Amino acid sequence: MSIYIRKNIRDIDGYTPGEQPREKNLIKLNTNENPYPPSPKAMEFLKGFNSEKLRLYPDPMADNLRKTIAELHGFHIDNIIAGNGSDDILNIAIRTFLNEDEKIVCFDPSYSLYPILARLQNANTHSIDLSEDFSLPENFLTSGLDKLSEQRKLKLFLIANPNAPTGNAFLIKDIEVICSKFKGIVLVDEAYADFAEDNAMRLLEKFDNLIISRTLSKSYSMAGVRLGWAVSNKSIIREMIKVKDSYNVNMISQFLAIEALKDRQYFAETVSRIKKARSILVHELVKLDFKIIPSQANFLFVSPPEGNGNDLFLFLRTKNIIVRYFPAPKTKAFIRITIGREEDMQELLNCCREYLKTRQ
Ligand SMILES: Cc1ncc(COP(=O)(O)O)c(C=O)c1O
Repeated sequence: MSIYIRKNIRDIDGYTPGEQPREKNLIKLNTNENPYPPSPKAMEFLKGFNSEKLRLYPDPMADNLRKTIAELHGFHIDNIIAGNGSDDILNIAIRTFLNEDEKIVCFDPSYSLYPILARLQNANTHSIDLSEDFSLPENFLTSGLDKLSEQRKLKLFLIANPNAPTGNAFLIKDIEVICSKFKGIVLVDEAYADFAEDNAMRLLEKFDNLIISRTLSKSYSMAGVRLGWAVSNKSIIREMIKVKDSYNVNMISQFLAIEALKDRQYFAETVSRIKKARSILVHELVKLDFKIIPSQANFLFVSPPEGNGNDLFLFLRTKNIIVRYFPAPKTKAFIRITIGREEDMQELLNCCREYLKTRQ
């Protein structure tokens, strides 16, 4: 049967999402979900939802939701597109901008879905190695970008900021340089920006080639709802809307997202709790001699003193703690830990201490 399958599909393994284990009593710190429940307002809404409405299709343009997002962030509704998670937005962007054999540009390491989405479209990836501490490579903003502009077929630069899986953030003034020099579209994937000190929103006024994507999966505790969105100038959004599935955001997600977005107080409280737990965890892991990449996200990318991420990952698993391990050469010394509840972070720390004892 494989002769019927498009070659580019046959040739890739597909994306491997973080494990969603069936076992109970696991401390799940592997997919950057929020440990707190969604806004109580969204939960109340769900309880009172008249399921008879599900007979109907949802609003294809998600107008009320887009209006809520637009008002919250100071844009016009026509600047916003909603998606079935921000993965949907990324996919729509790649399908909007890339012809076959053209290329996306992304850093390595970064979100591993980007090159896969490109391959599915018969497009390729131009990958740029980050430096050893996962910051921008030396001279990237000068000669690096100049070299990029000499290359043909580079259409879309995908930048996760804060980056994943490393958690560090690139400076907005550096993103600004990229927007001004890159001859194509720059999509800044701000899935984790609510946990960061800064974001690129203010650059939208200045650059017509900039798109910013956000998600409710992390800071709004709604990974299961699947709601992402992007903001850009109206003409780009108009074209992206042509590409999306007609009813790409289901009815319940549209309603729930509006409730969650409007509950500013709950959002602020949970984000600040996670940031606090993040700084405590950093403090404690430093004491244990872990190497820590400075994080502006709801996770930490850390390496134990002897630099063997896989051993620590496997040890934690035996203790019913699941974190994420990326076996590629540049990342194999590290594990990625999602910031969880305070008590889960304590348990994680106890297990890290125990792990270090086994190494003495
Ligand atoms: C950098 C980055 N972008 C996008 C996503 C996808 O988020 P969503 O749940 O909105 O599809 C993730 C998920 O982990 C991510 O790490």
